Amino acid sequence: MIKFITETVDYLKEKGFDTPEIGIILGTGLGQLINDVEIIKEVSYNHIPNFPTATVEFHKGKLIFGKLAGKKVVVMQGRFHVYEGYSLQDVTYPVRIMEKLGIHTLLVSNAAGAINLDFKKGELMLIDDHINLQGSSPLAFQGVEQLGERFVDMSAPYDTEINSTFKNIANANGIKLHKGVYASVVGPQLETRAEYRMLKIMGADAVGMSTVPEVIVANHLKLKVAAVSVLTDECDPDNLAPVDIAEIIAMAGKAEPDMVTLFKELIENI
Ligand code: HPA
Repeated sequence: MIKFITETVDYLKEKGFDTPEIGIILGTGLGQLINDVEIIKEVSYNHIPNFPTATVEFHKGKLIFGKLAGKKVVVMQGRFHVYEGYSLQDVTYPVRIMEKLGIHTLLVSNAAGAINLDFKKGELMLIDDHINLQGSSPLAFQGVEQLGERFVDMSAPYDTEINSTFKNIANANGIKLHKGVYASVVGPQLETRAEYRMLKIMGADAVGMSTVPEVIVANHLKLKVAAVSVLTDECDPDNLAPVDIAEIIAMAGKAEPDMVTLFKELIENI
Protein backbone atom coordinates (compact mmCIF):
# COMPACT_ATOMS: atom_id res chain seq x y z
CA MET A 1 0.00 0.00 0.00
CA ILE A 2 2.88 2.39 0.72
CA LYS A 3 3.92 2.40 -2.93
CA PHE A 4 0.35 3.20 -4.04
CA ILE A 5 0.04 5.97 -1.47
CA THR A 6 3.32 7.56 -2.55
CA GLU A 7 2.23 7.48 -6.20
CA THR A 8 -1.12 9.11 -5.40
CA VAL A 9 0.42 11.76 -3.15
CA ASP A 10 3.12 12.62 -5.70
CA TYR A 11 0.44 13.08 -8.37
CA LEU A 12 -1.64 15.40 -6.19
CA LYS A 13 1.38 17.43 -5.05
CA GLU A 14 2.35 17.88 -8.65
CA LYS A 15 -1.21 19.08 -9.36
CA GLY A 16 -0.77 21.77 -6.72
CA PHE A 17 -2.23 20.21 -3.55
CA ASP A 18 0.22 22.13 -1.42
CA THR A 19 0.21 21.18 2.30
CA PRO A 20 -3.47 21.41 3.28
CA GLU A 21 -4.06 21.70 7.04
CA ILE A 22 -7.61 20.40 7.26
CA GLY A 23 -9.43 17.61 5.41
CA ILE A 24 -13.19 17.79 4.95
CA ILE A 25 -15.47 14.96 3.86
CA LEU A 26 -18.60 16.57 2.48
CA GLY A 27 -21.42 14.21 3.21
CA THR A 28 -25.12 14.71 2.75
CA GLY A 29 -26.16 18.06 4.18
CA LEU A 30 -22.87 19.85 3.76
CA GLY A 31 -22.45 20.02 -0.02
CA GLN A 32 -23.06 23.77 -0.06
CA LEU A 33 -19.93 24.38 2.00
CA ILE A 34 -18.01 24.15 -1.26
CA ASN A 35 -19.52 27.52 -2.30
CA ASP A 36 -17.42 29.14 0.42
CA VAL A 37 -14.19 27.48 -0.67
CA GLU A 38 -11.81 29.50 -2.80
CA ILE A 39 -10.93 26.65 -5.14
CA ILE A 40 -7.29 26.49 -6.18
CA LYS A 41 -7.31 23.05 -7.81
CA GLU A 42 -9.78 20.24 -8.33
CA VAL A 43 -9.28 16.74 -9.69
CA SER A 44 -11.92 14.16 -10.52
CA TYR A 45 -11.52 10.92 -8.53
CA ASN A 46 -11.37 9.03 -11.82
CA HIS A 47 -8.11 10.77 -12.69
CA ILE A 48 -6.31 10.18 -9.42
CA PRO A 49 -3.93 7.21 -9.60
CA ASN A 50 -4.89 4.37 -7.24
CA PHE A 51 -8.10 6.03 -6.10
CA PRO A 52 -10.83 3.41 -5.75
CA THR A 53 -12.55 4.50 -8.97
CA ALA A 54 -9.49 5.18 -11.08
CA THR A 55 -9.75 1.93 -12.96
CA VAL A 56 -13.22 0.68 -12.09
CA GLU A 57 -16.09 2.95 -13.01
CA PHE A 58 -17.22 6.51 -13.40
CA HIS A 59 -17.58 8.39 -10.15
CA LYS A 60 -18.74 11.99 -9.99
CA GLY A 61 -16.61 12.68 -6.91
CA LYS A 62 -13.84 15.26 -6.87
CA LEU A 63 -10.92 16.08 -4.63
CA ILE A 64 -10.62 19.82 -4.16
CA PHE A 65 -7.76 21.91 -2.82
CA GLY A 66 -8.47 25.46 -1.75
CA LYS A 67 -8.84 28.01 1.00
CA LEU A 68 -11.66 28.29 3.47
CA ALA A 69 -11.78 30.87 6.26
CA GLY A 70 -8.09 31.55 5.63
CA LYS A 71 -7.03 27.90 6.01
CA LYS A 72 -5.69 25.55 3.36
CA VAL A 73 -8.17 22.70 3.01
CA VAL A 74 -8.57 19.53 1.00
CA VAL A 75 -12.19 18.63 0.39
CA MET A 76 -13.69 15.32 -0.65
CA GLN A 77 -16.77 16.14 -2.68
CA GLY A 78 -18.38 12.72 -2.61
CA ARG A 79 -17.26 9.77 -0.51
CA PHE A 80 -17.05 6.02 -0.97
CA HIS A 81 -19.42 3.65 0.84
CA VAL A 82 -19.15 -0.06 1.60
CA TYR A 83 -22.69 -0.45 0.23
CA GLU A 84 -21.43 0.57 -3.22
CA GLY A 85 -19.18 -2.48 -3.23
CA TYR A 86 -15.94 -0.86 -2.07
CA SER A 87 -13.78 -2.51 0.55
CA LEU A 88 -13.11 -0.78 3.87
CA GLN A 89 -9.53 -0.17 2.68
CA ASP A 90 -10.89 1.54 -0.47
CA VAL A 91 -13.36 3.65 1.50
CA THR A 92 -10.57 4.95 3.75
CA TYR A 93 -7.79 5.29 1.17
CA PRO A 94 -8.47 9.03 0.66
CA VAL A 95 -7.97 9.65 4.40
CA ARG A 96 -4.48 8.15 4.16
CA ILE A 97 -3.79 10.40 1.18
CA MET A 98 -5.03 13.56 2.88
CA GLU A 99 -2.84 12.76 5.90
CA LYS A 100 0.24 12.36 3.72
CA LEU A 101 -0.58 15.66 1.99
CA GLY A 102 -0.28 17.28 5.41
CA ILE A 103 -3.64 17.55 7.21
CA HIS A 104 -3.72 17.50 11.01
CA THR A 105 -7.51 17.56 11.35
CA LEU A 106 -10.33 15.67 9.62
CA LEU A 107 -13.89 17.01 9.64
CA VAL A 108 -16.75 14.79 8.51
CA SER A 109 -20.46 15.16 7.91
CA ASN A 110 -23.17 12.62 7.21
CA ALA A 111 -26.90 11.97 7.22
CA ALA A 112 -28.32 9.67 9.86
CA GLY A 113 -31.56 8.37 11.28
CA ALA A 114 -32.48 9.42 14.82
CA ILE A 115 -32.64 6.45 17.17
CA ASN A 116 -32.91 8.71 20.20
CA LEU A 117 -36.48 9.93 19.87
CA ASP A 118 -35.74 13.12 21.81
CA PHE A 119 -33.84 14.13 18.67
CA LYS A 120 -35.98 15.35 15.76
CA LYS A 121 -35.48 15.20 12.02
CA GLY A 122 -33.89 18.33 10.63
CA GLU A 123 -31.71 18.72 13.75
CA LEU A 124 -27.96 18.17 14.03
CA MET A 125 -25.96 15.79 16.21
CA LEU A 126 -22.32 16.10 17.12
CA ILE A 127 -20.79 12.62 17.18
CA ASP A 128 -19.30 11.99 20.60
CA ASP A 129 -18.60 8.29 20.15
CA HIS A 130 -19.46 5.49 17.74
CA ILE A 131 -20.35 1.82 17.36
CA ASN A 132 -18.84 0.01 14.38
CA LEU A 133 -21.41 -2.41 12.93
CA GLN A 134 -19.86 -2.71 9.48
CA GLY A 135 -18.65 -6.22 10.17
CA SER A 136 -14.92 -5.63 9.84
CA SER A 137 -12.19 -3.03 10.31
CA PRO A 138 -10.36 -0.88 7.74
CA LEU A 139 -7.21 -1.84 9.69
CA ALA A 140 -7.66 -5.59 9.22
CA PHE A 141 -5.04 -6.20 6.54
CA GLN A 142 -1.51 -7.49 6.25
CA GLY A 143 1.10 -4.77 6.59
CA VAL A 144 -1.08 -2.31 8.49
CA GLU A 145 1.71 -1.86 11.05
CA GLN A 146 3.83 -0.23 8.34
CA LEU A 147 1.30 2.62 8.27
CA GLY A 148 0.73 3.02 12.01
CA GLU A 149 0.24 0.84 15.05
CA ARG A 150 -2.10 -2.12 14.69
CA PHE A 151 -3.94 -1.94 18.02
CA VAL A 152 -5.25 1.60 17.79
CA ASP A 153 -6.58 3.25 20.92
CA MET A 154 -10.22 4.25 20.55
CA SER A 155 -10.89 5.59 24.03
CA ALA A 156 -11.59 9.06 22.61
CA PRO A 157 -11.87 8.90 18.80
CA TYR A 158 -13.48 12.35 18.48
CA ASP A 159 -11.52 15.43 19.54
CA THR A 160 -13.01 16.89 22.72
CA GLU A 161 -11.57 20.35 22.12
CA ILE A 162 -13.05 20.60 18.62
CA ASN A 163 -16.36 19.27 19.93
CA SER A 164 -16.54 21.95 22.60
CA THR A 165 -15.73 24.61 19.98
CA PHE A 166 -18.57 23.19 17.84
CA LYS A 167 -20.91 23.48 20.85
CA ASN A 168 -19.90 27.09 21.49
CA ILE A 169 -20.45 28.01 17.84
CA ALA A 170 -23.86 26.32 17.88
CA ASN A 171 -24.86 28.21 21.04
CA ALA A 172 -23.65 31.54 19.67
CA ASN A 173 -25.68 31.03 16.49
CA GLY A 174 -28.84 29.60 18.09
CA ILE A 175 -28.28 26.23 16.37
CA LYS A 176 -29.61 23.14 18.13
CA LEU A 177 -26.73 20.68 18.29
CA HIS A 178 -27.28 17.39 20.09
CA LYS A 179 -24.42 15.16 21.15
CA GLY A 180 -24.55 11.40 20.83
CA VAL A 181 -23.40 7.99 19.69
CA TYR A 182 -23.42 7.15 15.97
CA ALA A 183 -23.77 3.54 14.89
CA SER A 184 -22.58 2.68 11.39
CA VAL A 185 -24.17 -0.13 9.43
CA VAL A 186 -23.36 -1.34 5.91
CA GLY A 187 -26.73 -0.63 4.28
CA PRO A 188 -27.93 0.15 1.68
CA GLN A 189 -31.25 -1.16 2.97
CA LEU A 190 -32.69 0.80 5.85
CA GLU A 191 -33.24 -0.92 9.21
CA THR A 192 -36.11 -3.13 10.29
CA ARG A 193 -38.13 -2.26 13.38
CA ALA A 194 -36.29 -4.99 15.27
CA GLU A 195 -32.93 -3.53 14.21
CA TYR A 196 -33.93 -0.04 15.39
CA ARG A 197 -34.90 -1.55 18.77
CA MET A 198 -31.54 -3.34 18.92
CA LEU A 199 -29.63 -0.14 18.09
CA LYS A 200 -31.42 1.73 20.87
CA ILE A 201 -30.63 -0.99 23.41
CA MET A 202 -27.00 -0.90 22.30
CA GLY A 203 -26.76 2.78 23.13
CA ALA A 204 -26.89 4.37 19.69
CA ASP A 205 -28.48 7.81 19.27
CA ALA A 206 -28.23 7.80 15.48
CA VAL A 207 -27.59 5.33 12.66
CA GLY A 208 -26.00 5.78 9.26
CA MET A 209 -23.94 4.05 6.59
CA SER A 210 -20.64 5.94 6.64
CA THR A 211 -18.05 7.86 8.68
CA VAL A 212 -16.86 5.18 11.13
CA PRO A 213 -14.31 3.60 8.73
CA GLU A 214 -12.80 7.02 7.96
CA VAL A 215 -12.70 7.90 11.66
CA ILE A 216 -10.94 4.64 12.54
CA VAL A 217 -8.24 5.32 9.94
CA ALA A 218 -7.92 8.95 11.04
CA ASN A 219 -7.24 7.64 14.55
CA HIS A 220 -4.75 5.17 13.12
CA LEU A 221 -2.95 8.17 11.66
CA LYS A 222 -3.33 10.22 14.86
CA LEU A 223 -5.38 12.94 13.18
CA LYS A 224 -7.79 15.08 15.17
CA VAL A 225 -11.33 14.17 14.13
CA ALA A 226 -14.79 15.65 14.47
CA ALA A 227 -18.06 14.68 12.79
CA VAL A 228 -21.61 16.02 12.64
CA SER A 229 -24.75 14.17 11.55
CA VAL A 230 -27.83 15.74 10.08
CA LEU A 231 -30.79 13.76 11.37
CA THR A 232 -33.04 13.06 8.42
CA ASP A 233 -35.62 10.64 9.83
CA GLU A 234 -36.97 9.45 13.16
CA CYS A 235 -36.50 5.75 13.72
CA ASP A 236 -39.42 4.92 16.00
CA PRO A 237 -39.98 1.16 15.74
CA ASP A 238 -43.52 1.50 17.08
CA ASN A 239 -44.55 4.09 14.48
CA LEU A 240 -42.33 3.36 11.53
CA ALA A 241 -43.37 4.89 8.23
CA PRO A 242 -41.93 3.47 5.00
CA VAL A 243 -38.70 5.23 4.08
CA ASP A 244 -39.10 8.26 1.87
CA ILE A 245 -35.77 9.09 0.24
CA ALA A 246 -37.11 12.40 -1.11
CA GLU A 247 -37.98 13.41 2.46
CA ILE A 248 -34.55 12.35 3.72
CA ILE A 249 -32.88 14.53 1.10
CA ALA A 250 -35.26 17.43 1.82
CA MET A 251 -34.45 17.19 5.56
CA ALA A 252 -30.73 17.22 4.85
CA GLY A 253 -31.26 20.32 2.70
CA LYS A 254 -33.24 22.05 5.42
CA ALA A 255 -30.42 21.67 7.95
CA GLU A 256 -27.69 22.55 5.48
CA PRO A 257 -27.35 26.28 6.28
CA ASP A 258 -26.76 25.43 9.98
CA MET A 259 -24.22 22.73 9.05
CA VAL A 260 -22.36 25.19 6.80
CA THR A 261 -22.27 27.84 9.55
CA LEU A 262 -20.90 25.34 12.07
CA PHE A 263 -18.12 24.09 9.80
CA LYS A 264 -17.11 27.51 8.48
CA GLU A 265 -16.84 29.05 11.92
CA LEU A 266 -15.06 26.01 13.29
CA ILE A 267 -12.41 26.19 10.57
CA GLU A 268 -11.95 29.89 11.31
CA ASN A 269 -11.29 28.96 14.93
CA ILE A 270 -8.88 26.02 14.64
N1 HPA B 1 -30.68 4.33 8.73
C1 HPA B 1 -29.48 4.23 8.15
N2 HPA B 1 -28.93 5.22 7.48
C2 HPA B 1 -29.60 6.37 7.38
C3 HPA B 1 -30.85 6.53 7.96
C4 HPA B 1 -31.42 5.46 8.68
O1 HPA B 1 -32.54 5.52 9.22
N3 HPA B 1 -31.26 7.80 7.69
C5 HPA B 1 -30.27 8.37 6.96
N4 HPA B 1 -29.27 7.52 6.77
